[in-house]
Amino acid sequence: MQKRNKKILAIIGSATPNSSNQKFVEKIIEKVDHFDITMYNSLSELPHFNTELTEHNVPEKIKNIRELIEHSDGILFSTPEYIFSIPSGLKNLLEWCVSTMIFTNKPISVLTASSSGIKGHEELHLILETLGAIIRPENSILIKGIKGKFDQYGNIDKELLQHVLSIMNNFNKTIEDFRHSS
Ligand SMILES: Cc1cc2nc3c(=O)[nH]c(=O)nc-3n(C[C@H](O)[C@H](O)[C@H](O)COP(=O)(O)O)c2cc1C
Repeated sequence: MQKRNKKILAIIGSATPNSSNQKFVEKIIEKVDHFDITMYNSLSELPHFNTELTEHNVPEKIKNIRELIEHSDGILFSTPEYIFSIPSGLKNLLEWCVSTMIFTNKPISVLTASSSGIKGHEELHLILETLGAIIRPENSILIKGIKGKFDQYGNIDKELLQHVLSIMNNFNKTIEDFRHSS
């Protein structure tokens, strides 16, 4: 039987079109062949979280992104830090997910690519842990000074890219381990 590639949803946290995080994920999509990666770069189109619409009369766009998350084998977050926190668009999505079980036992990889990013990186891990996701340190990376990691032609620093690709291999293994144990 042919092995199917794992389905990964890559959620871009940046509010900037053509962001460094988007470019990074595009490179990962180009280089990683054990994943079918769908990039989600539309956080700014989601309605603002409303507790009265989280279980009944859920907005269509929220239903869609919840389904994408639910039907993925793993979620890759690629995000900068904004004012020592995660970007509001990403926080908004996670608030819409609190009343669901879609992150429970979901393997997660976090790539925080920012100027510094320490607080945002920690915060995203704390939130995902609270939502019951599977988080392992070998599947995440904090990339400081992201803008300096691209050359004038838009190429990513080779050593960094290799490191991130090795993290994608770790992530693949986590998803496989989880499948075998569940
Ligand atoms: C509103 C705003 C707030 C920011 N705050 C932080 C911050 O607290 N820490 C940090 O490391 N970078 C901060 N930055 C800088 C971003 O990390 C940097 O611009 C990064 O390259 C953005 O990644 P992107 O190109 O994927 O959007 C901030 C940028 C913006 C637009």
